[in-house]
Amino acid sequence: MTAGSRITRRGLLTGGAAAAVGAVAACAADPAPASRTGAGGGRNPSAGGPAPASAAASTAAPAAAPGGTAVEPFHGVHQAGIATPPQTHAAFVGLDLRPGADREAIARMMRLLTDDARRLTQGAPALADTEPELAVLPARLTVTFGFGPGLFTAAGAGHLRPESVAPLPGFSVDKLQDRWNGGDLLLQICADDALTVAHALRMTVKDARSFARVRWIQRGFRRPPHVQAPGLTQRNVMGQLDGTVNPRPGTADFDRAVWMSGGPEGMRGGTTLVLRRIRAELETWDAVDRTGKEFAVGRRLDTGAPLTGSKEHDEPDFAALTPEGFTVIAEQAHIRRARVADPGLRIFRRVYNYDDGLSADGHADSGLLFASYQADIARQFVPVQERLAEADLLNEWTTPVGSAVFAIPPGCAEGGWIGETLLS
Ligand code: HEM
Repeated sequence: MTAGSRITRRGLLTGGAAAAVGAVAACAADPAPASRTGAGGGRNPSAGGPAPASAAASTAAPAAAPGGTAVEPFHGVHQAGIATPPQTHAAFVGLDLRPGADREAIARMMRLLTDDARRLTQGAPALADTEPELAVLPARLTVTFGFGPGLFTAAGAGHLRPESVAPLPGFSVDKLQDRWNGGDLLLQICADDALTVAHALRMTVKDARSFARVRWIQRGFRRPPHVQAPGLTQRNVMGQLDGTVNPRPGTADFDRAVWMSGGPEGMRGGTTLVLRRIRAELETWDAVDRTGKEFAVGRRLDTGAPLTGSKEHDEPDFAALTPEGFTVIAEQAHIRRARVADPGLRIFRRVYNYDDGLSADGHADSGLLFASYQADIARQFVPVQERLAEADLLNEWTTPVGSAVFAIPPGCAEGGWIGETLLS
């Protein structure tokens, strides 16, 4: 199907032909809106400055605030959305390929989706975007693609699948529900604005529709940059500072822990994602006093400092003893069980909260979308999760209800597409 035929069909069906064609004309005038670089987001000129003449009618610039026009670069060695400072809103979408989707079809889908992502992240409408006005405030939008084990099989590219991107072993704490598990393709869409996320989600899912069906969607949130200064550790729905000990983007430890340098050639510069949906048992957590909550993790609730220190980033002293001779940080405290000595072998946690409604008696369905990125799932994620499953005080109040693994292919250059190193 050509872009032209898509535009005509959509335009006719929705009565939005003029807007769609206007948007496409704008894109044609600026065919490579991507690759404006600058960490933390550059500015999208189409929102702040005068709009291209052909787009003026359909993408009238709003009185844009700097946060709305901020862009994250799309092209690069790595996909955006991992080392990118976490945005406020996230939607993780798991899709299953339709029967018969083969390597050629998957490649076609990825070309389309890459084009959508390239445009939308830079504040330009997707091709045949029926609501182009919604694209002009990208708010640091990133669209990150992941391939589940099933995609490699469907593409006849099993030999290119990183070995550790395979179903996880069962953990004793798991109470997994199939509606949150698995998936052949992941769309991870993050931005500082929920409307931007909704628009990017709709555009990309629409284009994926003839190749794949939606299996699940999980939405998450963090505190926005205008509420809490960026770079500070966030609180999760349990009230804890979450993310203190984590590889820092831009360091050698991060590069070693996260980006693949071995394994299949086509994955170099990529990574892997384990997405666990972990319900927080807030009713019973509420019943615990502060001392009990701090004991379970090994850190204070107010400052996030380890129980053996006074500031958040103080190094925990796991050998320190109480006057009675017990370790100050309990043997089964979360941070002791989760600790990995070699910083280059840690997992990178880019975690979002979720809060998906209330039961009739007012109990929250709330918890963490625990997104863990690492070069090798078997070497990095699995041993930590095994130690936690075996004995972690926090298990009393947390329940994994969903689980999925994906290979995150490397990024692409201008004119390229995500997955080309594996599928072309
Ligand atoms: C709802 C579930 C969870 C909650 C509420 C939670 C909360 C926390 C908190 C409050 C900290 C201390 C601050 C920090 O360094 O970030 C922490 C640390 C950590 N957590 Fe979790 N966590 C959860 C699940 C997990 C899971 C499933 C894993 C891995 C499989 C994990 C791995 C880690 C690691 C590696 C650390 C840093 C440990 C260190 O070296 O100090 N957590 N978590």
